[in-house]
Amino acid sequence: MSEDLYPGVAAVAALLAGVALFVVLRRRGSRRPPCATGWIPWVGAGLRFGKAPLEFIEQARAQYGPVFTIFAMGNRMTFVTEEEGINVFLKSKEVNFELAVQNPVYHTASVPKNIFLTLHEKLYITMKGKMGTFNVYQFTEQLNEEFHEQLEDLGPHGTMDLISLVRQLLYPVTVNVLFKKAMFPSHKRKTEDFCQHFQIYDEGFEYGSQMPEWLLRNWSKSKRWLLALFEESIPEIKAYKPEKADSVTLMQAVLDVVEGEAGGHSASYGLLLLWASLSNAVPITFWTLAFILSHADVHKTIMEGISSVLGGTGEEKITVSEDMLKKLLLIKWCILEAIRLRAPGVITRKVVKPVKILNYIVPSGDLLMLSPFWLHRNPKYFPDPESFKPERWKEANLEKRTFLDCYMAFGGGKFQCPGRWFALLEIQICIILILYKYDCSLLDPLPKQSHLHVVGVPQPEGQCRIEYKQRRDVCQDPREPGPSGGATPPATHLASGQHKG
Ligand code: HEM
Repeated sequence: MSEDLYPGVAAVAALLAGVALFVVLRRRGSRRPPCATGWIPWVGAGLRFGKAPLEFIEQARAQYGPVFTIFAMGNRMTFVTEEEGINVFLKSKEVNFELAVQNPVYHTASVPKNIFLTLHEKLYITMKGKMGTFNVYQFTEQLNEEFHEQLEDLGPHGTMDLISLVRQLLYPVTVNVLFKKAMFPSHKRKTEDFCQHFQIYDEGFEYGSQMPEWLLRNWSKSKRWLLALFEESIPEIKAYKPEKADSVTLMQAVLDVVEGEAGGHSASYGLLLLWASLSNAVPITFWTLAFILSHADVHKTIMEGISSVLGGTGEEKITVSEDMLKKLLLIKWCILEAIRLRAPGVITRKVVKPVKILNYIVPSGDLLMLSPFWLHRNPKYFPDPESFKPERWKEANLEKRTFLDCYMAFGGGKFQCPGRWFALLEIQICIILILYKYDCSLLDPLPKQSHLHVVGVPQPEGQCRIEYKQRRDVCQDPREPGPSGGATPPATHLASGQHKG
């Protein structure tokens, strides 16, 4: 080769090397996240995932790192577990809540996808307004009245499964407050039917959201029973005049939006709202009570606070006011801590345009997943994560309505749970009134949480009975706060939580 050709060859070689390097770098940059799959096409990791989904998610994180995909039943679910991915999940315009949930909404409540997409934002704003921080205390009085009514049915003492007790209180109270006063069936037979059908519907919700209805006969029957109940009740809900002339119930406000554009689907929206308002609030009330009753020091401090703020005896029909709630802050901390430990398994968004997370590109069409349950167990964000430590909530600025960093129990971003302030209010009043009225103790150890489902908060696995007896004697002079200083919780004292059960 002539010597004057050398510079040309060198230039071509350099160009090729440059192109190769560019391709390699680009490839590296556009790598998809590592993927857990299986050898059966379409099914992928579906069988292993379906057996114990929560555990599978954590194993995959340990194996693959902070961003990974699980391919199961034809779906690519890409999980994010650290800051960068969480930010994309919450803030990116390329990921979408509505497209991720339109299928489950169609399967579980028969709302057609186009109607769901048209109405969703308007309905969300309506619900957020009715239950937001500005309006939520309007529910206080009615919640008190309804809980007192239900508590009367418990009698002066008794023993029952704690989850049944919570259902017996929360089902009627929530329905009567959010839908229409006295809507909850009062006839014994119909009450039992309601409880049975709602429980079946709730337990099967996750399967119902993915599988054809004809494969789930029992679940489908309960879904139809509940839809028929709403068909029957919609005219009464519409005609109902709440006591305060200027207010309408939450369901009435929802109906105003739905009937304008999709009147034929009012019952479906009733069912969706029923499920959203009970499916998490019931197990969280259970877990909060179970945690309090199995931590003797927390229980004692709470009882001292209740005696100091509400008075010593449980016999009066007391109204828990906003001011009392502020003084009984430890109860709110216990609820938030119970939700931290028993947070929803997953929340989800649909990727509509490829997004970059760390060095990976997550392709459009993937479901982007975040697991509040596991995020709340990351010691980087929550030290000593497995322990029930209500005092960690001292750090949160609850006055300003902010939770702890990385607390994702109510989801996040544009469509965070619109019922969160209502849920906290309802659960606080419920727990205060139970503990004010009754001396309570658990007859069984704190149960394990079920690892079977990932939608919503975990249910208890196995029995946990409560014994309750009406409080008659004054536990303590309300003017003399106990060693805790009354209602305000001593953080160090609580840190040494002891299990009783
Ligand atoms: C402790 C109880 C509760 C927990 C842990 C909880 C949690 C959640 C979560 C994680 C979401 C999904 C948010 C997201 O993907 O970013 C959600 C949505 C929702 N929640 Fe709650 N929730 C609770 C109670 C309630 C209550 C009492 C209501 C009352 C009506 C309610 C109404 C809703 C509704 C309507 C949605 C769907 C919002 C939408 O379509 O955009 N929730 N909730």
